[in-house]
Amino acid sequence: MVPVKRRRVGTPVVTACRDNAEVIKFPQVVIFLLEKRMGASRRAFLSRLARSKGFWLEDSYSQAVTHVVSERNSGEEVQAWLETQVTEGGTNNSVHLLNITWFTESMGAGHPVNIEKRHEIQVKQRLTACTVVHTMGAYACQRKTPLEHHNTIFTDALLLLAENAELCANEGRNVAFKRAASVLKALPRPVRQMEDLQGLPCLGEHSQRVIKDILEHGGSSEVEMTRQSEKYQAMKALTGIFGVGVKTAERWYREGIQDLADLVTADLKLNREQQTGVKYYDHLNMPVTEAEARTIGQIVEKAVHALLPGAEITLTGGFRRGKKTGHDVDFLVTHPEEGREEGLLPKVMGWLEARDLLLYQKINKNSYLEAKEWPARPSSNMDRFERCFSVFKLECPWAASEKSNQSGESPSWKAVRVDIVVVPFSQLAFALLGWTGSQLFERDLRRWAAQEKGMSLNSHALYDTKRKQYLRASSEEEIFAHLGLEYIPPWERNA
Ligand code: UTP
Ligand code: MN
Repeated sequence: MVPVKRRRVGTPVVTACRDNAEVIKFPQVVIFLLEKRMGASRRAFLSRLARSKGFWLEDSYSQAVTHVVSERNSGEEVQAWLETQVTEGGTNNSVHLLNITWFTESMGAGHPVNIEKRHEIQVKQRLTACTVVHTMGAYACQRKTPLEHHNTIFTDALLLLAENAELCANEGRNVAFKRAASVLKALPRPVRQMEDLQGLPCLGEHSQRVIKDILEHGGSSEVEMTRQSEKYQAMKALTGIFGVGVKTAERWYREGIQDLADLVTADLKLNREQQTGVKYYDHLNMPVTEAEARTIGQIVEKAVHALLPGAEITLTGGFRRGKKTGHDVDFLVTHPEEGREEGLLPKVMGWLEARDLLLYQKINKNSYLEAKEWPARPSSNMDRFERCFSVFKLECPWAASEKSNQSGESPSWKAVRVDIVVVPFSQLAFALLGWTGSQLFERDLRRWAAQEKGMSLNSHALYDTKRKQYLRASSEEEIFAHLGLEYIPPWERNA
């Protein structure tokens, strides 16, 4: 089941191949044909047909299946069948139960068609008594995930494996472990036995093995080995430098560089961002506190108001979700009269620079043009606001009075990473939703929009690909409503 899951969560690049060497064109749709009244030979014929068109068909039912298709079965029959699957180890509550019309239309179209009401098989009750305990959506944006939860012993372990996968550039594995951890974060109680996991989505074989190890031995040997491994430690240290991504760190690691000291000794050519990262390494690896974030907010507000009265600034990112610390501080800046915000950012940065409040800044221009976005570029996740990556020089009265008095050397300020994003007012709700996170919550919002609603969401807009129109919104609540989702407040988006 692990390879199946891995393919499922991977980016939709056409790489997955089956035994008969046919290419899977639609890795997000995993079909299971229910044989019951269809008959074995017709099922085999339809399977061959679908596979030849690049569809992914599973021969047996598993939690990986997303679409169950049956022919001439009543809702009750399909329901009874599904319940037998449930007793064999958890159910997938988000699986679509469809009649053959969806399948034949998809074959005709050459791609999975959007699911309409008429394609769906009507069943009265989808859950049996034994799984009623957990009715958790498979998408993070369907769940409420608080900051504090009951399963940190498991989520810390799974997130370390996710981080390691990310450092090894294994995106599929990274997301799979993050999803598993996220499901446990949303549980209302601690997991005490494997049976408590029954019916939960996104828990692959590998994650379950880690959880089982922890339940049985109090820890996971795989996690401990990873934590101790030379590569994990080196990659963590190197990517901990501002401006250094996985690719650069990997190259340096292969050249024998394992930490900051090695890097300094090697005397490599570094870009301006990396030089800043090296220079303020200790500061930038210290968590930013909420109090520091609020102080920086006041400074940014002062600068913005001095240059454009009436402009509004909002603290986003982890702090908006209620986190007490973060790796940086994220702000959105806008003005209710659209257009007034243009040209503001360089002035704000200049104002700060002139007052010796910046250690580094780099402005990226706004490159978003709605008319050019869709349908030509349906799923570009990078947003293109005018944005400044910066490092603030934050005066700390406490540092001056305590540390520098003792050592005589510690600076009376702290270097803090700050992102400032300028947003046209009409895109504010989308930017707010996109910049509040968590990363997994955002990812699943976009996946939900695309797979369940045939819509395309990013930090600028929401586009309905079926009706070929933009859906406007002036609040996050409206965006959730467009997406057919229950509203989830920022502090419950800690997926
Ligand atoms: P962060 O990386 O700052 O994460 O991005 P965070 O949740 O605030 O956590 P810490 O405490 O700083 O580590 C904030 C949100 O902004 C989005 C991300 O998806 C994330 O949800 N983001 C970030 C973008 O949309 N685009 C970017 O280029 C960067
Ligand atoms: Mn942040």
